[in-house]
This record gives sequence, C-alpha cells and structure tokens, in this order.
Amino acid sequence: MLKGKRILITAGPTKEFIDPVRFISNASSGKMGYAIAEELSSKGAEVILVSGPTNIKCNSNTIKVVQVTTALEMLQACQHYFDSVDIVFFTAAVADYRPLIMESSKIKKNDETMTIQLTKNPDIAYEFGKIKRDDQISVGFALETDNIIEYGKGKMQKKKFDFIVLNTTNENGEGFGFDTNKISLLFNDDSIKHFPLKAKTEVAKDIVAELETRIQNPIAI
Ligand code: CTP
Repeated sequence: MLKGKRILITAGPTKEFIDPVRFISNASSGKMGYAIAEELSSKGAEVILVSGPTNIKCNSNTIKVVQVTTALEMLQACQHYFDSVDIVFFTAAVADYRPLIMESSKIKKNDETMTIQLTKNPDIAYEFGKIKRDDQISVGFALETDNIIEYGKGKMQKKKFDFIVLNTTNENGEGFGFDTNKISLLFNDDSIKHFPLKAKTEVAKDIVAELETRIQNPIAI
C-alpha cells in the first residue's frame, strides 16, 4: 500500500550559528526520523530524508538523504519536494530561533556579559500546512513536558497535521537521545491511541502501521 508512495521526512536537530565556531542547537538525535525512514523504505515507499546534523548512518541505499544544517536550509530543501510528495513526516527538532546576526569572525570574550539577539526561524510544518492538498497526508511530532494533549491538538490544527505523535520527557527512556520512546497518537477526529514504551524501531513500525490503516480508511483521516 505504501509501495511507490513518495514520502518526505525531516529529521534531527538544526544548528544555528552565532559565529564560525559556535552554534545554538538541541539534543535531538534524529533516531526516530531515521527509524521511520527505514520502515517506510522497507515497505517500498520512495523516501526522501531531509536531515539536520546527526551521527546516524542511513543503512538503506534506497533512501535519498539530503543533509542540511540550519532551519533555513531545511525549509529550502523541503520546499523543493512539497508539491510532489504524497506524505510528509515532520520529525525534525527545528531550532525555533536563530541569531539575528552571524558574526563572520570568532567572538572574543571582552565583556562580563553578552547578549545574543535571536530571530524566529520559519516553521516548516506550518509552511507545508498552508499549501497542503487534500490528497496529501501530513504527520507531526511534539515533545511536551505538560498539557500534552491540549498543546498537541493546537499544533495539529495550526499546522494541518492529519495526526500528531506525542511524547513527553516525563519518564526514563523516552524522547531525545534514548533508543526507546513512549508515544500517543492524536488524530484530527480527536481520537487518541496510547502505546507502551518501546524501541524506536518498534515505535516506527506502530506509526507506519497506523498510517497504513488510515490510508485504507480515509474517512478517518
Ligand atoms: N516544526 C517545524 N518547523 C519548526 C518548528 C516545528 O517543522 N520551525 C514541526 C516539528 O518537526 C514538529 C511540529 O512542528 O513536527 C511541532 O514542533 P514543536 O517544536 O513541538 O512545536 P512548535 O510549534 O515549535 O511549538 P513550541 O516549541 O512552542 O512548543
């Protein structure tokens, strides 16, 4: 059913440079996005993985990996594919802000305090939501520490996700950096499905299985 489907996935963190040797980033490992890419590829989908800097080597030579560093680069790379894909997974932990000015030389420590002015990065999922067609499926991810369902619902509506994968950092072994994750799937018909703590490779199978169910039963998506 996923055979021949063209699927775009964003993964990993982005790095936003302050000067040539320093940057703002986050602890995303990219593991979840890569696991989903491998699972989709094993089902015969044509996968394009737009990845921020990670330490992961993609095992499948059928996945097209596009390496980017910054949020602006990630947006540009994704925009190239938005029109031609059937499904998009937004697993990347895009830095919400970047330094307003990137210094061209290394900043010297002259003062006791220093201030870096930040400016908002584009929201890649929101940009896709603005042009998304009815025949396209969009899947979002959200890592929350509290009000998980309320915030998840808000993001799903704002970014036009068909469903959103929610996870928290409340328990050991889930979220950034870990090999395991405990997720809930929230759908745009307000239904929710909870899953136990599992290896990220198994979580990827659950997410892809759910996607297949929803493709078979489009009324529910
Ligand atoms: N996302 C994105 N581009 C951004 C920020 C987020 O594509 N600049 C996507 C993420 O990949 C994820 C979803 O939007 O699928 C939700 O991301 P999250 O960081 O949880 O949401 P934000 O809208 O940034 O809200 P906040 O950080 O305030 O919780």
